Amino acid sequence: MSENRPGVTARAPAKVNLLLQVGPLRDDGFHDLVTVFQAVSLHEDVTATPADTWGITVEGAGGTDVSGVPLDGRNLALRAARLLAERAGVEEPVHLHVRKEVPVAGGMAGGSADAAAALVACDALWQLRTGLDGLAALGADLGSDVPFGLHGRTAVGTGRGEQLVPVLTRGAFHWVFVLDDTGLSTPRVFAECDRQRGPGWTGPGADGRLEAVEAALRDGDPRALAAALSNDLADAACALAPQLTRTLDAGRAAGALGAVVSGSGPTVALLAESATAARDVAAVLAPVVGEGRLRTASGPAVGARVLEAVA
Ligand code: C5P
Repeated sequence: MSENRPGVTARAPAKVNLLLQVGPLRDDGFHDLVTVFQAVSLHEDVTATPADTWGITVEGAGGTDVSGVPLDGRNLALRAARLLAERAGVEEPVHLHVRKEVPVAGGMAGGSADAAAALVACDALWQLRTGLDGLAALGADLGSDVPFGLHGRTAVGTGRGEQLVPVLTRGAFHWVFVLDDTGLSTPRVFAECDRQRGPGWTGPGADGRLEAVEAALRDGDPRALAAALSNDLADAACALAPQLTRTLDAGRAAGALGAVVSGSGPTVALLAESATAARDVAAVLAPVVGEGRLRTASGPAVGARVLEAVA
């Protein structure tokens, strides 16, 4: 028994999609994507500790509501740890403790970040040295956004979103996130997007959107990036949660350079000129949407990593 060994804590970031171009529905039930992910400084911390049985506890940080997080076999962090154990032939259960800063079911890949952090924490605890590519391959079996949670920074994602190529960026980008407690299920938003497009729809075609985002990132130009933000799931998310249209408008009126639905929503991401401007946008919005629904963050943030214990 190894109960006295200390636990290992790993941290993984949330993401925002700067571009989310959705292709047709594939035979496997997924959609081909061309997306640009940026990792942002809202984090999930997962501590893995040797235990007699597999288990998980979850804590909300900074006001995060964790009531919707499953604590059974559906939990993505627990599934990640068990998958790594199975593939590596480890027969040592762990208890996971998750400290969540990322909104639950918010379109910011919080669950995927939990899985990414659990993989990194367990890999270190069991001294497996799997490597980033090996963990990302395992992560792709758990969810389309897990590989990005491992890699972090800024990347173009293709396939289901799991095939990643890093993007050159200059400087930092400053965000305000407006949370919404309407749960939006990702499959439902994709299905609504298909419904709106109708059966004859064949694909978005090449339209220069990716190149515009890449150029803005390379130049470190928040105004150009704001103009290039786009999300093909936005209309579907706004159809299912009509208040999001008002949130996007309120964000622009509060001084944001650009506003976009994050992933499949319902979180709305607002891009600001600087860290000070982001705080100003949040201050203007606080009386409108409520301070508890606002988070400021910057990107790019690094991918999943072990947090060194403080001596
Ligand atoms: O991979 P993940 O578990 O995040 O996907 C959740 C659901 O979102 C999928 O079952 C699918 O309905 C939808 N999805 C999709 N195309 C993608 C990613 C997700 O249709 N590229």
